[in-house]
Amino acid sequence: MLAGKRILLIVGGGIAAYKALDLIRRLRERGASVRAVMTAAAQEFVTPLSVGALTADHVFTDLFDRQDEQDVGHIRLAREADLVVVAPATADLMAKLANGHANDLASAVLLATDRPVLLAPAMNPRMWAHPATRRNRVVLAGDGVLFIGPNRGEMAEAGEAGEGRMAEPLEIVAAVETALGGGPLAGRHVLVTSGPTHEPIDPVRYIANRSSGAQGTALAVALRDLGAEVTFVTGPASVPPPAGVRVVRVETAREMLAAVEAALPAEAAIFAAAVADWRVANAGVQKMKKDGSGRAPALEFAENPDILATVSRLAEGRPRLVVGFAAETETVVEHATAKRARKGCDWIVANDVSPSTGIMGGAENAVVLITGKGAEVWPRMGKDAVARRLAARIAAALG
Ligand code: C5P
Repeated sequence: MLAGKRILLIVGGGIAAYKALDLIRRLRERGASVRAVMTAAAQEFVTPLSVGALTADHVFTDLFDRQDEQDVGHIRLAREADLVVVAPATADLMAKLANGHANDLASAVLLATDRPVLLAPAMNPRMWAHPATRRNRVVLAGDGVLFIGPNRGEMAEAGEAGEGRMAEPLEIVAAVETALGGGPLAGRHVLVTSGPTHEPIDPVRYIANRSSGAQGTALAVALRDLGAEVTFVTGPASVPPPAGVRVVRVETAREMLAAVEAALPAEAAIFAAAVADWRVANAGVQKMKKDGSGRAPALEFAENPDILATVSRLAEGRPRLVVGFAAETETVVEHATAKRARKGCDWIVANDVSPSTGIMGGAENAVVLITGKGAEVWPRMGKDAVARRLAARIAAALG
């Protein structure tokens, strides 16, 4: 996959620097050549000797090394690569790049390169959440810098957990492949629905639900990161749609069905939207007013189309893989298995949303994947991690 590709790896300082060693091994296993630059801080965690042993190349550490400058020079170093990867990318390196500093070899190379740059941030969750780091992330993303991670989980500091762990080496490898245009879903069209629907009562009122769109959005990101061309059909969600996907905004279930049908064909379709089962059949053309009689208006309901079932049962042009979601509050596996049969989809991603789980509106999810082969109980993990795992399964299923 990466045969002949030249990766320039900048290793920043942090406990995650040890994972850079494994990353080098994984990249070289796939046929890439890796050249490494280490910051002064990185050398406090791993030595140039071990990094050089794995890259089988000279390790560059000093902007003012006369021999290095004569032999290669930081400008050539910056250009003689297909991709520049920074792992771990510290808060300091991000700040330097966002502001155009160039006072050491790593920052000078980052400023001098005309190649795509992929950052794998790793830092304490408070540093990652700090407004300064957030600002830098926005600036860097606007400059076209790519990101992988960080993940949520335990930190090196005892007892600390949160968002800040560096992505695992294999996740970084997948992001490298995507950045170089070769993810496992490269060129594949995948459709994702997400968010709630709004069903009008009159021009100013509507019926909605509490879906935030977080899981569907995470899924679109994970599929995009594997190289897929994603069409993201979203109701009015509370989280913004991701960059790098085709966004189609809708309000009602019927608009969502029309948008889905217009977006086909797709190789896979994932229905993560919380679609209203009913719409108001006698919705007012004008705003409904109190008539002074004290009588409440009687709303009549009509059933909405079931988008998942409709697409699952398409005689022609059915996506090869159709995935539905099921939010259950009891006997999750039984209900979800029955739903899979009823809807005619290939997989159901079921989760227990009973209030005691804290999943609804939370950052974590505990899912059971129901396929034709039975039920798989996944451990509880962040919604992003669920999305990445599901995206990897989708890629494997499409082959
Ligand atoms: O029928 P229920 O809402 O329990 O099923 C959930 C699954 O069906 C989700 O994947 C949801 O996106 C999909 N669905 C749909 N159209 C509907 C209702 C549900 O696509 N009208």
